[in-house]
Amino acid sequence: MTDLIDAMYTNRSIRRFHPDPVPDHVVAKLIEAATRAPNGRNAQPWRFIVVRDPEMRQRVGEVYREAWDHYSPPSRLAAVTDPRERKRVEGAYHLGATMGTEPPLLIVVCSECEPAAGSDGRHGSGATVFPAIQNLLLAARAYGLGGCMTTIHRFREEKLKEVLGIPENIDTYAIVPLGRPAEKFGPLRRRPVSEVAYADRWGAPLATE
Ligand SMILES: Cc1cc2nc3c(=O)[nH]c(=O)nc-3n(C[C@H](O)[C@H](O)[C@H](O)COP(=O)(O)O)c2cc1C
Repeated sequence: MTDLIDAMYTNRSIRRFHPDPVPDHVVAKLIEAATRAPNGRNAQPWRFIVVRDPEMRQRVGEVYREAWDHYSPPSRLAAVTDPRERKRVEGAYHLGATMGTEPPLLIVVCSECEPAAGSDGRHGSGATVFPAIQNLLLAARAYGLGGCMTTIHRFREEKLKEVLGIPENIDTYAIVPLGRPAEKFGPLRRRPVSEVAYADRWGAPLATE
């Protein structure tokens, strides 16, 4: 098993997958780990739809592709010149085109509608489901599996709900593709602590050694 700190430091978004199926007991463990996340009032409003059936994956993938095409026309990729950033964006376009065919498993993360303070009043803020998704991704990393948080489908959420028969009072937050990675884990490109953290008040440098 991968050490937790190592998992956090190497768990980059994986968007290219081998087709090997993920066993049922592993999927169950990943969802169990997700449900160990903190959540408001311990209400546990999350629901997870595990999509493995090839036809259903394809239909979910079509919704994702439609939303992706809307959000990211090819001109966006063409405008990226930094080679490392280009690699990341190319991966995202690849997933846009293959969500329904390449990853052996998609987990659609839903929640009962529960508009939270500060949200737009219809969708909850996601504050309760995103910690669970991060737990799921870290647990996947521990099993040598890769995945990616994706939310772009929300441009076409009604279509996704129709495809999956999701009731009116349930919102969808993420589609997480999962599988054995066909690309490498980490390291992650992140700004240093000194650029993002302050001591006692905004802007005051924080000692990091
Ligand atoms: C809230 C959220 C939504 C995201 N939505 C998408 C998405 O729709 N499609 C996608 O390919 N990646 C998506 N990502 C992944 C980010 O692009 C990725 O985490 C970021 O670029 C950093 O790259 P890394 O995870 O490989 O370090 C999302 C991440 C978060 C946290």
